Amino acid sequence: MKKLNKATSLKGIISVPGDKSISHRALMLGAIADGTTRITNLLNSADVNTTKQILMDLGVKITEQANITEVEGHGVSGLHDPDEVLDMGNSGTSTRLLTGLIVGAGLNARIIGDDSLSKRPMDRVINPLSNVGANISSNNGKLPTTIHQSHLKSKIDFELPIGSAQVKSAVLLAGVTSGAETTVVDEFKTRNHTEVMLQQFGAEVKIDGAKISIPSDQHLSAANVVVPGDISSAAFWIVAGLLVKDSDLMIKNVGINSTRSGVIEILNQMNAMVDIQASNSDGEPIADITPHFSKLKAINISGKVIPACIDEIPIIVLAATRATGRTIIKDAAELKLKESDRIITVTTELKKLGAKIQATDDGFIIDGPVQLKADKTHVSGHKDHRIAMMLTIASLITDGEVILDDDDSVDISYPTFFHELGKLVV
Ligand code: S3P
Repeated sequence: MKKLNKATSLKGIISVPGDKSISHRALMLGAIADGTTRITNLLNSADVNTTKQILMDLGVKITEQANITEVEGHGVSGLHDPDEVLDMGNSGTSTRLLTGLIVGAGLNARIIGDDSLSKRPMDRVINPLSNVGANISSNNGKLPTTIHQSHLKSKIDFELPIGSAQVKSAVLLAGVTSGAETTVVDEFKTRNHTEVMLQQFGAEVKIDGAKISIPSDQHLSAANVVVPGDISSAAFWIVAGLLVKDSDLMIKNVGINSTRSGVIEILNQMNAMVDIQASNSDGEPIADITPHFSKLKAINISGKVIPACIDEIPIIVLAATRATGRTIIKDAAELKLKESDRIITVTTELKKLGAKIQATDDGFIIDGPVQLKADKTHVSGHKDHRIAMMLTIASLITDGEVILDDDDSVDISYPTFFHELGKLVV
């Protein structure tokens, strides 16, 4: 439980922890490459530790030294069947990507997860993988699943039916670990970290518009990966810096890959003043981000930008409560399938603080500006890290005390979140 109060200003220069999506992928590709992969700034959080543990269960040696993680890969043939059931905890990314990797590697495994993960759909990866020869039994398309040794087809052609990078990545990883010639079409432009990183590990990946093609029998070689700061974590501070008057915040070394930076595009359209100072990097693009207190205006948010900001929508909704006019968010039904039903949890919790917000089938209608108010009001993060962090930022602009009933979930992606907040509030 956390008692949270309004902030008069936030001041400081901070770095957010490593990107969660990139951290998962660096561990996985390191595990199937030949040689020792060195990962700098790997996110140390519950979800990424799940991926690390599962890969160790599959026989991969992973060690830590200071800020560097070493993954000793021996190619796909270095992996073996796990002795234990694989427990994916709360992590959808671990489950879906590793399902692809394990199926392609021809391993046997049983997969379980926590209550939240066990309610989330896994048929979105089971179906495309089964169509190319995977033998997976499931609980009606959900966990627990059992993967039986599978021999995938030598050619995989798949068109993404939903805007999910996890599904895309599961199929790409299955293609690479099975040695199939693989083509995936992604008209949604979902996050492209898997494709970018496969190239970094020496795989031949051709990108032609929406089409990603990988020839058969790719062998990956170990790489040095520097994980940029997570824009999904930075987004909380960016919005805080826009909404808390007299703030002076800079967030350093944030990954600004265009398939992830929809939040910046949207905030700019809302008239936010956000300075982006791009810096040099070998891999993913990075920048220092400085938000300035801004008077926001309402906009319509829908279509192609949604996959590029899907994890940031809860904090965008908070920003919209302070924007003048009616903000309409559409095409975001995927939010119902995250760690909580984020359309419901965002609406329910912000309403407790007086927000004028309506849940719709695929998004929200928000009227603003509204001054949020609390009187020792209890709010719940619904065991969902991004809801807990959004509500914490909400409390910084709310009159009166907010009591956040569950705050542990921040460990999923940002274990040092409250510590950082303590340093920034002056
Ligand atoms: C992720 C993809 C997104 C995102 C999740 C991480 C990834 O999920 O919400 O936090 O690393 O590929 P979907 O693929 O379900 O959209």
